[in-house]
Amino acid sequence: MNRTRSLTFFAAFAGALSSSMAFVPSTNSNRMQVMLLQSSPTPATTSFIENELRGAAMRLHTRQQAPKEGLAPAKKMEPYTPTRADYLQFLIDSQHVYKAFESVVNERPELEAFRNTGLERVAPLETDINFMCYEYGLTRTEVGQPGIRYAEMIRGIQSIPEFMCHYYNFYFAHTAGGRMIGKQMSALLLDKKTLEFYKWDGDLNQIKARVKDSIEDMAARWSETEKQECVEATAAAFQGGGGVNSHLSGGQSPH
Ligand code: HEM
Repeated sequence: MNRTRSLTFFAAFAGALSSSMAFVPSTNSNRMQVMLLQSSPTPATTSFIENELRGAAMRLHTRQQAPKEGLAPAKKMEPYTPTRADYLQFLIDSQHVYKAFESVVNERPELEAFRNTGLERVAPLETDINFMCYEYGLTRTEVGQPGIRYAEMIRGIQSIPEFMCHYYNFYFAHTAGGRMIGKQMSALLLDKKTLEFYKWDGDLNQIKARVKDSIEDMAARWSETEKQECVEATAAAFQGGGGVNSHLSGGQSPH
């Protein structure tokens, strides 16, 4: 794949969050009501993630990022070819943010269900950072500003629903688009080596399903206001995650 083209994934977005309201038909005809209900986009399940949280995230992707579901307008970004040093910085910043998530999860009793899920990424990233330094003679740099800022924000969040939005987006972005980025970087910079960051102990789909169930259990006990608070943090989650990704696009971030 052409290098410049391959980086169009880091193209832009500037969308506003639209709330996901179910369509409620208003007509006096019972028959018409039935027809409208059958063809309306009323959620078929009670899943908070599927009906609300995931949709809010997908809408903030550009069409280039997520062709099937992305809705955010694409902002023009200068093409940029990342170096191994950029990728190392991305891994270092990512690890710093995962450390923040993992320490909050370990400290707050309400988040007990999210301890040792198998999604944790701090330890695999440590292996990868050491590998990059050893294999390519790179120096382990300090955490960059995007990582510092986002980790500080994560540690400062008091509200559990707001925290869970960031948790969901950061971990599940990595298992979706993050793996696509990993494949590109591996082909471009690492002679196709797969880093530990992209390997999980056990079946990833099962791990994700278990974590999603825990999020659903928690969200089932939230009020509508708390659910709203969670969904509304999506734009900030994209800013934080997009900021860390910006190491791979010359400091430019579409989010
Ligand atoms: C280069 C940037 C990105 C690309 C190429 C990308 C691409 C994608 C794609 C293709 C999907 C759909 C996966 C599927 O349903 O099979 C997806 C899902 C998702 N993305 Fe991204 N994304 C990017 C950045 C982000 C960012 C910055 C965030 C938030 C921090 C994010 C959060 C998510 C979430 C939460 C999902 C749903 C995951 C799931 O259903 O398991 N993405 N992404």
